[in-house]
Amino acid sequence: MSINIAIFASGNGSNAENIINFFKDNNNVEIKIILTNNEYAYVIERAKRLNIPCFIFNKTELKNSNIVLNKLKEYDIDFIVLAGFLLKIPENILNVFPKKIINIHPALLPKYGGKGMYGKKVHDAVIASGDEYSGITIHYVNKNYDEGDIIFQKKCEVKNNDTPETLAKRVHSLEYNFFPKVIKKVLYENF
Ligand code: GAR
Repeated sequence: MSINIAIFASGNGSNAENIINFFKDNNNVEIKIILTNNEYAYVIERAKRLNIPCFIFNKTELKNSNIVLNKLKEYDIDFIVLAGFLLKIPENILNVFPKKIINIHPALLPKYGGKGMYGKKVHDAVIASGDEYSGITIHYVNKNYDEGDIIFQKKCEVKNNDTPETLAKRVHSLEYNFFPKVIKKVLYENF
């Protein structure tokens, strides 16, 4: 029997695709569905191309109904991965998936986290701060943005001439390299 995964993504979905490819030939882990709150997200095209079902919902449906939770139940989901997902996960979902939801953040939490700290905004803030290092943080999800227990961090340099785009590229390559491996480790330890 395989461990069934749902990926939530709000935008481009390059991490989602990378995770799907990583587990493609793994008989123990199956990416069952992608969920997005953004009907224009490029991740929807990726899902089509990769032959993964995709479910689109809006913020109100997520916050005030069981529509998303029911979709997770319908697909018999065991574990949830947030890969560039913008909204807060509501308690009805958190309660059913305790310590079974993880997120990736494109900086070294607890710095540069919280509401609205997403994608380019994070890299803008890191560059403005003059920090020598940025990196990635993979953490469990709880009811506050970016505050759940940290599972893994990896640093990279911030260079003097970095723009948000060049820094994002360096951070993305850490994400592509480490996120699938960390997901695998967490799954094998917990199931
Ligand atoms: C990733 O860099 C991820 O760390 C970040 O959004 C990007 C999504 O890229 N997540 C956050 O900022 C969460 N606060 P992708 O859609 O190409 O995977």
